[in-house]
Amino acid sequence: MKVGKERDCLKLAFYGKGGIGKSTVAGNISAALAIQGLRTLHIGCDPKADSTRCLVGRKIPTVLQQLQAKRIGISRQDIVFPGFSGVNCIKAGGPEAGIGCAGRGIITMMDELNLSGTMG
Ligand SMILES: Nc1ncnc2c1ncn2[C@@H]1O[C@H](COP(=O)(O)OP(=O)(O)O)[C@@H](O)[C@H]1O
Ligand SMILES: [Mg+2]
Repeated sequence: MKVGKERDCLKLAFYGKGGIGKSTVAGNISAALAIQGLRTLHIGCDPKADSTRCLVGRKIPTVLQQLQAKRIGISRQDIVFPGFSGVNCIKAGGPEAGIGCAGRGIITMMDELNLSGTMG
């Protein structure tokens, strides 16, 4: 886990081998923070797009899927979905496992969030 602090914004990043519990732990931490009344944004970066499922209760469209479908430009509502206790959930999406570069999906998502002001 990596912790970064920018002004009043605390950023937590979870990474490691597949199957060690990143999605489960991250989802529960997001839920716990939201229950405490903190404005929480949960961003899933796994191309499988599964970490937000426990918070929203279903699979949400990914940023890459929405960019591909809309073409003209996407809005905040297209990519940010409310989850448990008001956690805002975003899914980066990416190529099929083992094909292409998952990192590119994350970079594209971060560019899009900065453009749409979601990170502000
Ligand atoms: N603390 C835990 N104890 C037991 N099983 C766990 C725990 N955390 C996660 N799991 C289970 O392990 C599997 C992989 O967890 P997951 O969160 O999807 O891992 P990752 O995101 O790192 O790939 C899931 O079936 C999940 O329910
Ligand atoms: Mg995961």
